[in-house]
Amino acid sequence: MKGLLLAGGYGTRLRPLTFSGNKHMLPIANEPMLFYGLRDLAAVGLHEVAIVLGPMREGIREAVGDGRSFGLTVTYLVQEEPRGIADAVRRAREFVGGEPCVVYLGDNLLESGAAPLVQRFERGGYSAVIGAAPVDDPRRYGVVELDGERIVSLAEKPTEPRSSLALVGVYVFDPRIFPILDRLTPSARGELEITEALDRLVRDGAPVGVERIRGFWKDTGRPEDYLLANREVLASRPPTYFTRPGAALPAETLRGPVRIGAGTAVDPTARIEGPSVLGSGVVVGPDSVLGPFASIGDGARISGARIRDSILMERARVEGPVDLRDSILGRDAQVVAGTGSIGPISLIAGDAARLRGL
Ligand code: DAU
Repeated sequence: MKGLLLAGGYGTRLRPLTFSGNKHMLPIANEPMLFYGLRDLAAVGLHEVAIVLGPMREGIREAVGDGRSFGLTVTYLVQEEPRGIADAVRRAREFVGGEPCVVYLGDNLLESGAAPLVQRFERGGYSAVIGAAPVDDPRRYGVVELDGERIVSLAEKPTEPRSSLALVGVYVFDPRIFPILDRLTPSARGELEITEALDRLVRDGAPVGVERIRGFWKDTGRPEDYLLANREVLASRPPTYFTRPGAALPAETLRGPVRIGAGTAVDPTARIEGPSVLGSGVVVGPDSVLGPFASIGDGARISGARIRDSILMERARVEGPVDLRDSILGRDAQVVAGTGSIGPISLIAGDAARLRGL
C-alpha cells in the first residue's frame, strides 16, 4: 500500500487570511501541519509516500527531505495548478502503480489517524473506504448520505445537504479509481472533485465502505478550526512530550505540562500554564501569563501580556498589558499595547503585521 499526502491547492490560504508560504507548513503545537499526516501514514505501516506540491511549495522539501525522520521514503510530485483533489490524485498514478493507496489531505487532522480506514480496507472486499463524521455546517464539506451502512449519494459542498455527515479528508482507494478520475470534468468551482469520483465508483456498483470517524477531526481551513486543532493536539500529547527543563525557574512559574525549547528565557515573575509549548530562543518577559493552550514559535518575544488558546508563529512579538485569546499571530507580527490594559481580545494577524498603541 502506498501513501499520498496532498499539500497543493492554494497553499497559502487560511481563509480569510493569508500567511506567507504554504498553508501546510503553518504550525500546530509548533510543528508544521503536514507532519501530522505524515506520521499517521507511517503509523499504519506505510513506507512509500508521495507528497503532492502545488504552486506555493516553499519549505516543504526542506522540512521533510527524503522522509527518513518519519520512517518513510518520501518522493515529490508537482501539481502546477490547483485543479482539484482528484486531479492531484490522478498525477500519482505512476507512483501508486497497481497498489492500493491512502490519500491524506494535508490540512486535515485526525485523532484516530488513518488506522480505522486502513484496517477496514484490509479486512477485504472494498474498492474504497471513506471516513464520515457529523458536522454543524455540512455545506462546507463533501456530504455523505447513508441508508444504514450503504452509501446513497456523495455530493461536494451541496447547497442543500442530504445529511450532516461530512466526508473526512482521508481516503483509501484501490486502482479502480484511476479510470474514473480520467473521465471527470471540472465542477462548478472549476475543480476535479474526488467526491464526484467516489460517487461514480458507488454508482458503478463498486464496494465502498464508510468508517465513522471518532475522536476529533479538523479541516484546518478556517482560523477557528486551526485554533481548535492546536488545542486538541496540545491536549492529547503524551506526558513524555512535555519537558520541564526549567531548573532555574521558581516552582510556581510552570503549571501543568509545558514544553520549553533550547535557549528560551522565562522571567521568574512570568507564569506559564500547560498544556503549552514554547519553541527555542523565546523570551518571556516580566509579568507575562501564557497558556493554557499557547503555542509560541521560535524567537517569539512576550512581555507583560496574557496569551491563552493562541498560536504565535516564529519571531512574533507581543508587548504590554494586552490579553490575547483565540489569537493567531503570523511570523514577525508585532502587537504593542499602549499604556492601558486591553482585552481580552481575539486577534488574527498575518505575517509581519504591526499593531501598535492598541
Ligand atoms: O477536509 C475535508 C474536505 O476536504 C472534504 O469534506 C471535501 O469533500 C474535500 O473536497 C475537501 O474540501 P476543501 O474545500 O477543504 O478542499 P481544499 O481546497 O481546502 O483542499 C484540501 C486539501 O487538498 C488541501 O490540503 C490542499 C489539497 N489540494 C487541493 C486542491 C484543490 C491539492 O493538493 N490540490 C488541489 O488542486
